[in-house]
Formats: sequence, C-alpha cells, structure tokens
Amino acid sequence: MNYLELLKSRASTRKFTEKQITEKELSDILLAANSAPVGSNLYKDIHLTVVQNKEILNKLSEAAVKRSEDKKRMKQISGDVKLDDMSDMSTDIETPAKPHSPFYSAPTVIFVSHRNQDVQPGIEFSNVACIVLSMHLAATDLGLGSVFMWHILESMREIPELDNSYLLNFPEGFSPLLGIALGYPEKPLKTRELRADKIKTDYM
Ligand SMILES: Cc1cc2nc3c(=O)[nH]c(=O)nc-3n(C[C@H](O)[C@H](O)[C@H](O)COP(=O)(O)O)c2cc1C
Repeated sequence: MNYLELLKSRASTRKFTEKQITEKELSDILLAANSAPVGSNLYKDIHLTVVQNKEILNKLSEAAVKRSEDKKRMKQISGDVKLDDMSDMSTDIETPAKPHSPFYSAPTVIFVSHRNQDVQPGIEFSNVACIVLSMHLAATDLGLGSVFMWHILESMREIPELDNSYLLNFPEGFSPLLGIALGYPEKPLKTRELRADKIKTDYM
C-alpha cells in the first residue's frame, strides 16, 4: 500500500473477532518491530512478549477491570450515571465499553519491555513508541486491526495487588512500557481523510 493510503486506513481498532492471526501475519508484525529505529542501535535493551493465551490475558485484565468498575461506581455515586446506563459506559475512548475486556477481546497482544535506564533516561519511551508504531502500521498494511496498549500497564502499576505482569516473565531489569493488541477487525478498516491541522505547529 502506498504510504499515504496506509495512513488513511490507520486507526485504533477496538472491536475484534475471535479469530487468531496467522503465523505469517505474526512474523510480519515482528519483522516490523525489529525494523523500527532504536536509539543508539541498542536493540538488546528491548524485549518483546507475544501473548496469545486467553487465561493470561484475563489475569492481566483484572487490574483494568477493577479500575473501570471503580470509575463507574464513582460516576454513579456522583449522579453522573444512572444504574440503567451502566452497561454502556463507552464515552471514554480509552476505557473499553465492556469493562471485562481491556484488550477489546483481541486474540494477540504484544508487550514491549525495555531495560531500565540510567544511562539515557527517557529514551526507553521513545524506543517503545517507535516499535509499537511500526507494528501498528504493519498491521494496518495487512488489513489487521490493532491498538496501542498503555492503560492496561498503568492499571497494573496503580493496583499492585492485581499486578499480574509477573506472569509474562520479563527479563530481569526490564519493565513493560507499551503494548499492542492485534486481531481481525470486526468491520474492515475504513479510510479517513487525512488532516494536517490536528497538531498546533509553529514555523520559525
Ligand atoms: C502511547 C499511546 C498509548 C495508547 N494507549 C491506548 C490504550 O491503552 N487503550 C486504547 O484504547 N487506546 C490507546 N491508544 C490509542 C489512542 O487513543 C488513539 O491513537 C487516539 O485516540 C487517536 O485515534 P486513532 O488511533 O483511531 O487515530 C494509545 C495511543 C498511544 C499513541
């Protein structure tokens, strides 16, 4: 696909079918991750964890579920939401409509972890963003749906007793910073008109 056409189709998918992606699709996505630029060429500071095990994804979801339930409860207490409305809390795009599904039921999730930094502090966030964006664009090119996963990791940091990230066996000294959920979109990817006015830009 031509690059501008690819950008027109790129969007965050939050509704997936249950069908698993193929091994070829997964290997293309991993190729894209490995083709992303990384500061100082330090690929050895990055680690990928592919999760296709539903039980693990469900365990990881627990913290996000708890947080979204707490959020609902707060809104209900404050009178913002009536009990009847609670089954459809989809106003916050970062919070899944179904609280039990922070991965939006995507069958594959890839976590990107990074060696904890003291030499180049901050570079880890840029590195993982490059890697996840590369996978997101590759997924779009393959007609797959995908969405960045940050909130799930934040939820686990916020609720230490539900931090089940230990199940992912990250290497010693590495922390998970970002992820991507992948799968077949419930509806085919649509194209959108591109706009150049979303980010305020100064010229000097
Ligand atoms: C660093 C980063 C973290 C994100 N984390 C999440 C997330 O945890 N859950 C989610 O549903 N979307 C997440 N998103 C997707 C953004 O909400 C989305 O890209 C933005 O609203 C623009 O929509 P679009 O991707 O459809 O153009 C994240 C995006 C980025 C770049």
